Amino acid sequence: MTRAILILNGPNLNLLGTRQPEIYGPTTLADIEALCADKAKALNVSLDFQQSNHEGALIDAIHEARGKYAGIILNAGAFTHTSVALMDAISSAMVPVVELHLSNIHAREEFRKTSFIAPVAIGQICGFGAAGYPLAMDALLSYLGEGS
Ligand code: DQA
Repeated sequence: MTRAILILNGPNLNLLGTRQPEIYGPTTLADIEALCADKAKALNVSLDFQQSNHEGALIDAIHEARGKYAGIILNAGAFTHTSVALMDAISSAMVPVVELHLSNIHAREEFRKTSFIAPVAIGQICGFGAAGYPLAMDALLSYLGEGS
């Protein structure tokens, strides 16, 4: 199996660092990418780290992941709560997906408690801020049976 994973970030996550830091913390997406690159080295996996504000681009990335990545870590941002299309893409791509959020979506507004990703994900990590990213990498590798 390919020891390559994809971390896919959805809308507005490019603004991390200045976007509602009281909720999402002071860490920028570039900081998170660096954190994940270090973790990938430690886990001996190759990593692609992407972000898009566009639902269709995220769907394309999930389709293209098939056969290329052993798994995906997906922070779908607000599309988590709205996108049947992303849910269908995950169902169709046959690549395991870990759902990830910086904030605890279950402790916020009611609409954030609904996730269209959760039913098709292998699991969900939320509420740990930037630290959730390396945790999700451990979780994915453990699921794949290639843990550290
Ligand atoms: C988020 C939570 C979502 O509800 C929100 O729309 C985001 C970020 C998180 O990482 O906590 O954009 O996915």
